[in-house]
Amino acid sequence: MRLKTRIICTLFAAFAFTFSATVAAKELRLGLIVPGSHAWTVAASAMGDELEERSDGNYSVSIFPAGQLGSEAQMMQQLQTGALDMAFLTAAELTNSVTDFGTLFAPYLVTDVKQAGELLGGPAAQSLLDRLPRKTGTIGLGYGIAGMRLMLTAFPADSVNSLGGRKIRVTPFAPVQDFYQILGAAPTPMPLPAVYDALANGQVDGIDADLELVWKLKLYERGDTMLYSKHMMFPVVGLISGRLWAQLGEEDRTLIAKVAKKHLNNLFGQYSEIEATMLENLQQTDIDVIEVDSEFFEGKLKQWEEIWLKKGSFLKDLRSEADELQ
Ligand code: BEZ
Repeated sequence: MRLKTRIICTLFAAFAFTFSATVAAKELRLGLIVPGSHAWTVAASAMGDELEERSDGNYSVSIFPAGQLGSEAQMMQQLQTGALDMAFLTAAELTNSVTDFGTLFAPYLVTDVKQAGELLGGPAAQSLLDRLPRKTGTIGLGYGIAGMRLMLTAFPADSVNSLGGRKIRVTPFAPVQDFYQILGAAPTPMPLPAVYDALANGQVDGIDADLELVWKLKLYERGDTMLYSKHMMFPVVGLISGRLWAQLGEEDRTLIAKVAKKHLNNLFGQYSEIEATMLENLQQTDIDVIEVDSEFFEGKLKQWEEIWLKKGSFLKDLRSEADELQ
């Protein structure tokens, strides 16, 4: 081939590559641990629809719920290598990379999901997202929430002492395990997909969960008492792979970040309604629904605070921001 022809071929190939990179539609793969019917999955799907519409079809989102891509830890690794584009992960999972995320699980930090939205939109929680790129190689696009935490037990539970020595399923993360340890229970780490069977076959005596899970996963079928304690909030964080982020132009980054944050933040309002409906549903079942507050724990929760204050000063800042919302 003559030199001139080779240059023309090279130029044509470069043009074709640039053109196709501009117009090729990108399918973003998004993983979650929660089932397809869960509000986080519904939010991810609404985010995908809006992104597709606002990008004129340049971006679409394929959703992999119910831990199809593995545990949250595995999804985090996939985000880091670029094998996965996006994920909605529990803030608890992020505690493994940035310990201070654990402070978001401080008992009775907020009273309800609405207040959780206010706190998570504030400077302290936002500063945690800013640490993610350096610590995890992922970008935090925003916070959402699940329902406030409660306890469903397979035995009649009427006092904090009745939890003593009982095996309680927890999300496998330190802040939640610490909570049950100080109550004298035996926290048993277990990911969400395994919970129904574990409660059914007596592997655990009770579970830490929320109203939506107890209803949608039919966990009440295996319960005796539901202590509706609202003892912790349970944030979710929308993440995108740092490797993918580095390849995106400014305009695409702005669009993805804006749409993701909007649909994650919508969860704060949605959960007020979801919780009211699920509570009504569960009150119609055979389980005893008992509403309790911080006094139920008879002063034991101070120990959680002591453990987490030893890990750093972040909890103090977060608490003072939360106190201003009361
Ligand atoms: C749980 O492990 O209890 C959980 C996980 C994701 C969303 C809500 C709850």
